[in-house]
Amino acid sequence: MKVTVVGAGAVGASCADNIARKQLCDELVIVDIKEGFAEGKALDLMQTAHIEGFDTKITGSTNDYTKTAGSTVAVITSGIPRKPGMTREELIGINAGIVRTVTKNLLQYSPNCIIIIISNPMDTMTYLAFKESGLPKHRIIGMGGILDSVRFRYYLSQAIDCSVNDLQAVVIGGHGDTTMIPLTRLATYSGVPAAHFLDVETLKKVAAETMVGGATLTGLLGTSAWYAPGAAGASLVEAIVRDEKKMMPCCVYVEGEYGQSDICIGVPVIVGRNGWEKIVDYNLNEEEQAAFAKSADAVRAMNTILSSL
Ligand code: 2OP
Repeated sequence: MKVTVVGAGAVGASCADNIARKQLCDELVIVDIKEGFAEGKALDLMQTAHIEGFDTKITGSTNDYTKTAGSTVAVITSGIPRKPGMTREELIGINAGIVRTVTKNLLQYSPNCIIIIISNPMDTMTYLAFKESGLPKHRIIGMGGILDSVRFRYYLSQAIDCSVNDLQAVVIGGHGDTTMIPLTRLATYSGVPAAHFLDVETLKKVAAETMVGGATLTGLLGTSAWYAPGAAGASLVEAIVRDEKKMMPCCVYVEGEYGQSDICIGVPVIVGRNGWEKIVDYNLNEEEQAAFAKSADAVRAMNTILSSL
């Protein structure tokens, strides 16, 4: 089985590293537009094979998509990352053109692949890839909700003082600082509601920290984060290639679910070998449903910019 990662920058390299270490495929192709860059990352990663004990063959390619032919899954990480003070939405002008071209190139050689989008603004890039590719909706998945949810669990674990692995907590809605919705009501510590351990103010603080989780890292690093985004992308590849039927918050094309249509937005889905297989209904309360509708309006407004680019 072959997996392709497009974009050999920090996020793409972290994603490829996780895919190789977990041996999710026999062949992993990394593509980048910058001459020799993907080849260099592939060679460097291949030299970790003995240390990490994997047999995945990693190849780099400077924009030659023939090498990606027959990929089962392709992860698009290409585009510019945000700088401190920028929102993800400000990247749309440049990244839309890149995602459009990459999607076209991938499909030329892997017409049946499942495409994972990491590039920002992620919800709009997922929508763009869906519309451009003509692929069935189940084959286009945006990664943002998985990343936002692991950040939510991190901040919750700090506040409760517990293992992140004992927490269930999910973020739905858009992958934007003001559009994501950490569902504090449904967060549990081994089945016990988080509200049993934290007061309302602390839960609100955790939600606020989660929402600016990416911006906090951009401020510290001078560019956007890569370890967690890369690992989150690889976890999605894993759920697909191992047919895990995992419930993950992902950005997918909705047709009436959660009261929304004709946008890609974060909702809980079951992920397996066919991509996202079905949307799960969380039975949101009135307040959560209103927040979701507001988030969808913001994502839809961003999508309308696409037609003017
Ligand atoms: C983030 O939130 C890159 O969107 C990504 O870190």
